[in-house]
Amino acid sequence: MKIEGQAVLITGGGGGLGAGTARALASAGAKVALLDSNIGNAISIAQEIGGIAIECDVSDEASGVDALETARSKHGPARILVNCAGIAPAEKIVGKNGAMPLDNFRQVIEVNLIGTFNLIRLAAADIMELPTLEDNERGVIISTASVAAFEGQLGQAAYGASKGGVHSLTIICAREFARYGIRVNTIAPGLFATPMLLGMPQDVQDSLAATIPFPSRFGTPAEYAKLAMSIIDNVMINGETIRLDGGIRLQPR
Ligand SMILES: NC(=O)c1ccc[n+]([C@@H]2O[C@H](COP(=O)([O-])OP(=O)(O)OC[C@H]3O[C@@H](n4cnc5c(N)ncnc54)[C@H](O)[C@@H]3O)[C@@H](O)[C@H]2O)c1
Repeated sequence: MKIEGQAVLITGGGGGLGAGTARALASAGAKVALLDSNIGNAISIAQEIGGIAIECDVSDEASGVDALETARSKHGPARILVNCAGIAPAEKIVGKNGAMPLDNFRQVIEVNLIGTFNLIRLAAADIMELPTLEDNERGVIISTASVAAFEGQLGQAAYGASKGGVHSLTIICAREFARYGIRVNTIAPGLFATPMLLGMPQDVQDSLAATIPFPSRFGTPAEYAKLAMSIIDNVMINGETIRLDGGIRLQPR
C-alpha cells in the first residue's frame, strides 16, 4: 500500500518503537495519530512530526472506541494500524514472596494482548467499510510481539505469554480479514534501544548486546520502522510474524 496521504494509528506512539515508526511514516507523507496512555510523550512526538496525540489506554474498550473516533474526525478513517503499546515487567512465577499475584499476570495480558486485540478489532471494523485500493487491498495491521514469544526467559511468564498470544492472533486475523483485503502481520523484535532497555544499568546493557550474533548491538527504532514500512509496502507479506533480532536466541536467564 502506498503510504503517502494515508491516515495511520500508532499505539504506544509516545514510546521508542512507536515514535520511530511515527517519524518514518510522517516523513513518507502519512497523517499520523499517536495513541498512548502517556499523553505528554505522545504530544511531544506529535508536535515534532505534525501529527496528533490522543490519550488512550489500549486495554480499555471505551478508551479505544473514543480514540478511534477522535482520530477519524481529524484525519479520516485510518487504513493502517501499528500496535506498539506494551509493558514488560519481569517477575518469577514463584518468587521470594511466594506465588506471583494473579493481578500482576493479568495486567500484562490486559495491556499487551487484550490491548492489541482491542485496537485490531476496532481498526478492522473501520477499514472494512472503506473502498478498495490497488490489488483489492483495504488496509494493513502490524502488531508487536517479541522474541520472548518463542523463548521467554525466567521472569517473563506474563510477558512471554502475552506476546505468544499476539503471535497466535496474527494468522487468525489475517484469515478472517482476507476477504476484506486487510493484511495482518507481527514484528517480533529482539533487543532494541528504547526507554524499555536503556533504563537498565550499562553493564547489563553491554552483556545483553554481546549475546546478539550480528550486529552485536541493540536495534534502533528506525530499523523497526524500516520493517514496518516494508510490510506496508509489500502486499505479499501476510499472516506472518517476522523476527527482527540480529539472530539472537534468548537464553534461560
Ligand atoms: N525495546 C525492546 O527491546 C523490545 C523488544 C521486544 C518487544 N518490544 C515491544 O515493542 C513494543 C514497544 O516497546 P518500546 O521498547 O518502544 O517501549 P516503550 O516503553 O518505549 O514504549 C511503550 C509505549 O507504550 C505505552 N503504553 C503502555 N501501556 C499502555 C496502555 N495501556 N495504553 C496505551 N499505551 C500504553 C507507553 O506509555 C509507551 O509510550 C512493546 O510492545 C514491547 O513489548 C520491545
